[in-house]
Amino acid sequence: MTIGNKIIRYDSIDSTNDEIKRLARLSPLEHGTVVTAGEQTAGRGRLGRTWLSPRGGLYFSVYLAPNEIYPDFAGHIAMFVGVSVAASLGVPCHLKWTNDVVIKHNGIKKVSGLLSETVFEGDTPLFTVIGIGVNVKSLRENYISLEDVGVNLTPDALLPRILSEMDKNYPRLGSPEIRARYKELCVNLGEYAKITSHGRELEGICTDITHGGHMLLQTQDGITEVFAGEATLRGANGRYS
Ligand code: BTN
Repeated sequence: MTIGNKIIRYDSIDSTNDEIKRLARLSPLEHGTVVTAGEQTAGRGRLGRTWLSPRGGLYFSVYLAPNEIYPDFAGHIAMFVGVSVAASLGVPCHLKWTNDVVIKHNGIKKVSGLLSETVFEGDTPLFTVIGIGVNVKSLRENYISLEDVGVNLTPDALLPRILSEMDKNYPRLGSPEIRARYKELCVNLGEYAKITSHGRELEGICTDITHGGHMLLQTQDGITEVFAGEATLRGANGRYS
């Protein structure tokens, strides 16, 4: 096993992503090293958001060595992590582009998120941190947790399930099989969506996910390839979520 061979556990920490970055600066880390914590006091989400991290949830980060990084790596990581986490939660899950794991339960609700960060020195990638948070216990309204859908897994029981799925899938990073599975699970495909990408708002029908994990959006002006961003889907009621 490469991913999860070494696991460093904390009772409480600011952010497991930040701890991996600190540890990696102190001494070389083994590829696949995991840091996990019982709670995070400054958990971070995508786009500068806070990731609420009270006790009872699962919070962990995985260190990936620099020689693994290549163009399209970020998109491939998003697809690989999404597919791996979705297969591990003990309940049917779907994926919302780019990298949210969602459950269809009175609408589409997010149960897990990924914050992938590559640290550079100049133009040279030093390493990548994959941070994953899973809502295991009920948090608050409009959020969904595994507990809410009757899955009784503790964070300690869930972590090895996800790590072993990631370890199994990692050799297939960037492969057509991972992309195909991602597309099967992706709730965006065929749907009308608004996508915010680098401050621009685009609207259209999500027609495909490219080899690199980018979204192809059929807009009024033709097909646009969107590299990264945040999608909201238009529901049957015409509202976006
Ligand atoms: C998102 O959907 O916005 C991404 C959420 C990522 C949260 C995880 S929890 C473990 C790791 N440490 C952090 O501070 N963030 C990630």
